[in-house]
Amino acid sequence: MAEVLLGVSGGIAAYKAVDVLRMLQRDGHDVSVIMTRNATRFVGPETFSALSGRPVGLGQFTDPGTAGYDHLDFARRADVAVVCPATANTLARLAHGLADGLLSTSLVAFDGPVVVAPAMNTRMWEHPATVANVATLEARGVVVVPPASGLLADGEVGMGRLASPADVCAAVERVVRHGGEMQGREILITAGGTREPIDAVRYVGNSSSGKMAWAIVDAARDRGARVTVVAANVDLPRRPDVTYRDAGTAEALHRVCLDEFPGCDALVMTAAVADYRPVRAETGKIDKSAASSLQIDLERTTDILSDLAAARADQVMVGFAAEAGAAGLQRARDKRTRKGVDIVVHNDISAPGIGFGSDDNAITIIGPGDAEVFFERRSKRACAEAILDALMSQVTARTG
Ligand code: CTP
Repeated sequence: MAEVLLGVSGGIAAYKAVDVLRMLQRDGHDVSVIMTRNATRFVGPETFSALSGRPVGLGQFTDPGTAGYDHLDFARRADVAVVCPATANTLARLAHGLADGLLSTSLVAFDGPVVVAPAMNTRMWEHPATVANVATLEARGVVVVPPASGLLADGEVGMGRLASPADVCAAVERVVRHGGEMQGREILITAGGTREPIDAVRYVGNSSSGKMAWAIVDAARDRGARVTVVAANVDLPRRPDVTYRDAGTAEALHRVCLDEFPGCDALVMTAAVADYRPVRAETGKIDKSAASSLQIDLERTTDILSDLAAARADQVMVGFAAEAGAAGLQRARDKRTRKGVDIVVHNDISAPGIGFGSDDNAITIIGPGDAEVFFERRSKRACAEAILDALMSQVTARTG
């Protein structure tokens, strides 16, 4: 249970902040509300004061002689601040530290975790100024709950709709539960799938999209970790507050991991690394008219996880095991022992609707120690949270 400061800025989505307030209360939190002057044009302050059971913060200055709030009261009291909806203007103020109203002043005076849920017209959301402001906020550790795509209030269709109140509250919940938990920790995450060249244009590859790793990156950042990603052919949006190193082949991935591993506290080896690669990659393009069939000699790649595990100091190591069918779980257990890692995340690639390319996954987290927990189908983000819970239990056990 936390003390939440809910900032409501002036957009049509302001009415949805009422649902957010109710949900936060249902989750057991106490909520104080500050509205910008423009927000009061969309929803009456009485709605928020009646539901929160507290006076709503409106102006920066209270009348002389009244026992009103000031900006420091709100900032002092809150454990977490959530701005919903956050207009382009409010995002800009927050990014630049402007303090020209009660909400902006309170946010500048607040040193706890901040969640923002932007909502605006698509063109405003995509304007370079807004993009830069969002990047600045993310780099500062502010949790941005991205808007959704759909029909906007002005009749246009596009990106900019406020995320669902449930998503906004889930982000607040995560911050309350885990915010800052990984502060000062360096996490190395490999992502995507390697491509091993056959010739100048063809390769042996796999279907890994990088989505699972990307969800782990977001979850780790929200917990305050510093994150380095070694990405093998991942075509997904990148965060400004994460360091990315690209490594397309098993060999390149191995090289970059050797470079980054000594400086990290934990490695999450999500990448699908090719187990075999062509012995020789042709320099040009293989001419199919030269022969009616083609044989490609493959050789084993180095097992990066095992190699790093053999050389580790006290890093916590998480491997993945994509296995098909009932016997797969036992193979995943064996893999943990064989590779010498703390945790193996098993997923059954024969189960429909989950895994490669999908937004959902169903996983069994094997380890640390004797622990083994099955998480039925859920979003990759929710899986990422479970994986980090397991990882952190081992980090804490090891380093206190
Ligand atoms: N992995 C790795 N280096 C490789 C192959 C895999 O580091 N050359 C890592 C993967 O990133 C993953 C884990 O090892 O975290 C399991 O990968 P998988 O290919 O399923 O394991 P294998 O050892 O190839 O399993 P098996 O020998 O049973 O086929």
